[in-house]
Amino acid sequence: MAEAFDALIVGGGAAGLMCALTAGRRGRRVLVVEHANRVGKKILMSGGGRCNFTNLGAGPDNYLSANPHYCKSALARYTPWDFVAMVERHRIAYHEKELGQLFCDESSKLIVRMLLEECAAAGVRIEVGCGVERVRHGPGGFHLDTARGVFSAPALVVATGGLSIPSMGATGFGYDIARQFGLNVLPTRAGLVPLTLSGKHAERFHDLSGVAFPVEARCNGQSFRNRMLITHRGVSGPAILQISSYWQPGDDLRLDLLPAVDAFDWLRQQQAARPAAELKTVLADALPRRFAQRLCEVWLPNRPMRQFREAELRGIAAQLADWPLVASGTEGYRTAEVTLGGVDTDELSSSTMMARRVPGLFFIGEVVDVTGWLGGYNFQWAWASGHAAGEAL
Ligand code: FDA
Repeated sequence: MAEAFDALIVGGGAAGLMCALTAGRRGRRVLVVEHANRVGKKILMSGGGRCNFTNLGAGPDNYLSANPHYCKSALARYTPWDFVAMVERHRIAYHEKELGQLFCDESSKLIVRMLLEECAAAGVRIEVGCGVERVRHGPGGFHLDTARGVFSAPALVVATGGLSIPSMGATGFGYDIARQFGLNVLPTRAGLVPLTLSGKHAERFHDLSGVAFPVEARCNGQSFRNRMLITHRGVSGPAILQISSYWQPGDDLRLDLLPAVDAFDWLRQQQAARPAAELKTVLADALPRRFAQRLCEVWLPNRPMRQFREAELRGIAAQLADWPLVASGTEGYRTAEVTLGGVDTDELSSSTMMARRVPGLFFIGEVVDVTGWLGGYNFQWAWASGHAAGEAL
């Protein structure tokens, strides 16, 4: 005998829990099926344990998708302030770190606890450690065959997330369900991920691991000004993670190494003020000393400033402002924060997240081809898309 519900939600992450509590509040009988031993594992590990749960500036421009308009409706109907209101109702202390990013003062555990309390108040049933063996569709709606029996409902919500951090329970199950129902899935790849260097590019950086400084990273018409960190495998830090979502092997990636100044004006001022100082010494005032030294060993001529003609200073400034970073690849899903691509939004209604061709089948959160920037945008998409589906169930 199957147990009957109004809606079955596969995946107890950010999007699944938001969808569940929204539908539950509306009187729907909801079951969340989570295969991991607890819900919200990515919430727990997010934001260095403090969960960057939203971004006050979140808007459609902060998302990558084959259809950039798709996310507009859901984001407009559930804003960062809606989530903040819930956080405040639960008396969770938070702060804005920078650029609109809101973090818990204490622990991301409080966000999971809040979602679970809201689910409990809305009568949502949650089964953890419950793998789905098969999804069937037929008379009586959708049926999930699980180790705990068969569950049935007229609506099935797929909230299984992306492929990043497989050790946390990530699977391609959501894409498999989409394909099972004949829906198109766009190619996936790791996003918000450190880049790797190889060959001579790696050798030149290898011993600088740990060095960090602000840059502007540019690729394919997009740019981000933030910190870059040299790692033992390549480069990371917010500027690199952000631009990684816009980069694919072979693409031209450029760095402005002195983003806060006009490099030529600055070099000329330095030349006037310190004519006897060598270029590497001067650059060490604006960049980490070891990196400045390496620049002058490998790429730039190192002479006392007075010996540079204006045209040479212009050339050096141009190199500093438009420095090519030759990455060989990314660290992949093992360390990526998100998965780009996924269920094609052309298959889904932007107001309800329901598959146009399969009534009752919904896709929400990261499994969908909507990927946010670093800084709370991905959770905001999970909340907004989960809420949109929860209102439609
Ligand atoms: P999510 O991955 O949260 O949930 C999917 C759930 O489905 C999981 O619980 C999984 O176990 C379950 N599942 C998978 N397959 C299943 C199956 N076959 N059967 C049953 N259950 C299944 N974003 C942000 O905005 N701010 C931040 O601070 C961070 N920080 C961050 C740090 C790290 C290390 C990572 C990896 C990611 C982030 N993110 C983030 C991104 C954010 O975590 C992510 O975008 C959301 O969690 C996506 O929410 P979903 O609910 O779609 O998937």
